[in-house]
Order: sequence, then structure tokens, then C-alpha cells
Amino acid sequence: MPGAAQEPGQWAAVDHYLIDQLITPDPAHEAGEASAAAGLPAHEVSPPQGKLLHLLARAIGARTILEFGTLGGYSTIWLARALPAGGRLVTLEADPGYAQTARSNIERAGLGGLVDLRVGPALETLPHLDGPFDLIFIDADKRSNPEYLEWSLRLAREGTLIVADNVVRAGAVLDPETEDPSVRGVRDFIAMIAAEPRLDATAIQTVGAKGWDGFVLAVVGAEPR
Ligand SMILES: C[S@@+](CC[C@H](N)C(=O)[O-])C[C@H]1O[C@@H](n2cnc3c(N)ncnc32)[C@H](O)[C@@H]1O
Repeated sequence: MPGAAQEPGQWAAVDHYLIDQLITPDPAHEAGEASAAAGLPAHEVSPPQGKLLHLLARAIGARTILEFGTLGGYSTIWLARALPAGGRLVTLEADPGYAQTARSNIERAGLGGLVDLRVGPALETLPHLDGPFDLIFIDADKRSNPEYLEWSLRLAREGTLIVADNVVRAGAVLDPETEDPSVRGVRDFIAMIAAEPRLDATAIQTVGAKGWDGFVLAVVGAEPR
């Protein structure tokens, strides 16, 4: 293919082109900048991925969203902007400092009334939540993805969309002997999904400014015949 983009530098350049064309203005941009200024790690989804989350939430008419891993609230803001008035987004963050930055970013974005930020390890805050949630975004510590999947199923309904980020990890997911707990968490998570009759799923590899990674997308409920 003429001009085929096969290098990481080109992946980022294509991302920038697509951002200019389709994602600008980015409603969560200020949150990303404020998080960087506050010294948070740049682990948020990219702008096209944030918009994908937003479009998915809109496409399914999500009124309730659960997010694992808030960081500075970048993906939270994209998702919360898809909610109708009266909607609700619960986001779980272990780090109190990150949560403080996220809270101010979310307030500044005018979304404080929709977002319920729970601070503490997710496995401690999850038992206090009431579902069901229409969309669940899993993007916290990947080693815990298997437990997060169990909780997601408990807090889901028929038709809930589950999205999980960082499931390719530059190809590391291929290694069955890995000692990396994040990769093991992702591999166990994918195996659980494959064996779970309540889930119908796919995974999409992505390249871009964030490198080579991918998302799992799973729907709760039997496949339609
Ligand atoms: C990849 S970042 C989240 C990025 C965010 N979803 C975004 O795209 O803007 C992962 C976050 O999960 C948080 N985290 C790690 N372990 C956690 C745990 N056990 N419970 C809740 N949050 C956790 C980290 O502190 C970090 O902020």
C-alpha cells in the first residue's frame, strides 16, 4: 500500500492527523494537561480512544457507567460527557493524590454532579456499589483484571458492555511463561472471558501515539440467534 504507516513514529503522526481532523476540540484535554502538570503518569487513554469510549457509551444509550482506574479523570470526562441528565458514573481510584487531581478536573469540566469518585483499592470499594451498570470500563491494575471481571459480571445486566484497555501490551500477551503480573492478569482475564458463557467478546489491537496495545470488548448476555 503506498505510504503505508508501519513505524511507531508514523503511528503517532497518524494519531495527530486523526486528532486534528476528528477529535478537536478535545473536551478532556485540559484534564490531561492539569494531570501532567500535577506530575501524574501519562497512562491515560489517547484522545481517539477517549472518543471511542464516549461514542460507545452514546451508541448504547448508557445511563450508568462504572470505571476501574480514574488517574486524573481523562477517560472519566470522555465517558461522563456521554451521559444524559440524571446519568451516573462511578469511578474507582486507589491513589488519593490522583483522585484529588481527578476531582478538580471533573469539577472544572462541569461533571461533578454526574461522577461519583470512590477512593481506595477497587476490591475494597466495589462491595459498596449497587448496579446494574450499562457500560463498564476496566483500566486499573491489570493484575487484578480477573477479579474485576467477576465483579463486573455481578454489577452488570443483560446487554452491559464491558471494555478493558491494555490487553495486548506490545505483544507481551503472547507469552504463556510471563512472570509479569500485569500480563498474567490480562492472560487470565482473556481466558476467563473465553470460558464465560454469559459473555460474547472480541479484542481489537491498536497502534497510535500510545504504541501497540488493544481493547477487549464484551457484551453480557447470550448471543442472539
Ligand atoms: C491506566 S491508569 C487509568 C487511566 C484512566 N482510565 C484514563 O484513561 O484516563 C490506571 C489507574 O488505576 C489506578 N489503580 C491501580 N491499582 C488500583 C486499585 N487496586 N484500585 C483502584 N485503582 C487502582 C492507578 O492508580 C491509576 O490511576
